[in-house]
Amino acid sequence: MIQTSLRHLLSRRVLQRIPFIAAGSSSRRGFSHPSENSSSFADPRPDDERDVNHQGSEAATTISVDRSGLINPIQHCYEPSSDSELVKHLKSIIKFRGGPISVAEYMAEVLTNPKSGFYINRDVFGAEGDFITSPEVSQMFGEMVGVWAMCLWEQMGQPEEVNLIELGPGRGTLMADLLRGASKFEAFTKSLRIHLVECSPTLQKLQSEALKCLDEGNTTGSSTKSAISSLIEAPITWHSAFDQVPSGVPTIVIAHEFYDALPVHQFQRASRGWCEKMVDVTEDSTFRFVLSPQPTPATLLYLMRRLKWAGAEEFTQLEHIEVCPQGMELTEAISKRVGSDGGGALIIDYGQNGIVSDSLQAIRRHKFVSVLDDPGSADLSAYVDFAMVRCSAEEASENVSVHGPITQSEFLGSLGINFRAEALLQSCTEQQAEALRAGYWRLVGDGEAPFWDGPQELAPIGMGTRYLAMAIVNKNQGPPIPFQ
Ligand SMILES: C[S@@+](CC[C@H](N)C(=O)[O-])C[C@H]1O[C@@H](n2cnc3c(N)ncnc32)[C@H](O)[C@@H]1O
Repeated sequence: MIQTSLRHLLSRRVLQRIPFIAAGSSSRRGFSHPSENSSSFADPRPDDERDVNHQGSEAATTISVDRSGLINPIQHCYEPSSDSELVKHLKSIIKFRGGPISVAEYMAEVLTNPKSGFYINRDVFGAEGDFITSPEVSQMFGEMVGVWAMCLWEQMGQPEEVNLIELGPGRGTLMADLLRGASKFEAFTKSLRIHLVECSPTLQKLQSEALKCLDEGNTTGSSTKSAISSLIEAPITWHSAFDQVPSGVPTIVIAHEFYDALPVHQFQRASRGWCEKMVDVTEDSTFRFVLSPQPTPATLLYLMRRLKWAGAEEFTQLEHIEVCPQGMELTEAISKRVGSDGGGALIIDYGQNGIVSDSLQAIRRHKFVSVLDDPGSADLSAYVDFAMVRCSAEEASENVSVHGPITQSEFLGSLGINFRAEALLQSCTEQQAEALRAGYWRLVGDGEAPFWDGPQELAPIGMGTRYLAMAIVNKNQGPPIPFQ
């Protein structure tokens, strides 16, 4: 009976649009319309204009902050009396700079501050954490990414040595499922040198456990940690950034939900032109958004760069634009690496194939909260601008071709997730089959779960079309599956 219902489910067209989790509450980086989350501006008092000395990552300059451009304020609540380490740190940056910081700097501190960033000291995934990702939903996700990687390796001519790099591996679940799934293909697994790019020591430890690592130690003379995964006897090395991974060997890069965690600058159209949205502290010590009174260096540099790739019709109607410079730089680095060493990269994330307007969102314990509320206690993420990824990759190297984006449904469906689900069902208990069916539906489905009989507001929502897949590959290899 379960098989019958799975067949029924599988026979549904999977190329549909599906949000990920509970419509009214739960999980992963829920997908409310950006405008629903765009309203975290605070205190738009028009009288509040002052000079600030802005010394962010951009060149220091003096700007005055005009709060009159702020719109649609909402209250956010955290108790100044119980300031966390991170809140104190953010306030001290703003105080000692003498003015607000960019949204990108705020996001970087909140997520990856080495002492108290959101990702640094705890496991944020799963029902007990703040959100759930596809690899945590079903083993089939990592297995299908493994099929993709093996096919690319075939197309590369089965090189004896390959750097398999995962950016932001979370709990290590995707890589563990990929390696388990590939373990019968010895020529492939023997070629693998695995590199994990991860900023969080806590998550590095979980990754080490998931990959059943032995002989963990520090590589002489560096802070790089290395080990052997007993899953396939492959060497694993951890790095804190992509450019630390050694080059000169064909490369396969996997970036699942990594780009959405990279800091974005937010820009807003005002009567005086495009200005930058920034984070400030009020006199009563709460955070709020303010708008720069004139273009900041980031506006001139990053916004102009992004607009260069857009048609006038794409942005003339927009009042807000997000730009992710780290996403541009990372894509350039990946593209150059793949262009010179061979191989390819797979990027799967939620986003859109064009300029992103205003998508920054915060999720704590499976619920949306204000972006400014108790920073460090909630995940921040932003939609990925896949058109930006394409333009950055193509501009960085003539030797790569860019494919997609296609929906996660199309990607997983073309790689054969249906057949994998059917095969797993052959050796399942009734309970396992139910979990498998639900996981399958979440990965490729669209809309609310057809089998859900719980409260409507808690109905799980599929991720099949919210999530998009894009590949950047060396031109010599031809288009990768399933992007042909
Ligand atoms: C949203 S989680 C995705 C985890 C995993 N890929 C998954 O799908 O379950 C983002 C991951 O990237 C890591 N991360 C975020 N920003 C990073 C950065 N700037 N450098 C290195 N790792 C980062 C986080 O610690 C976490 O492992």
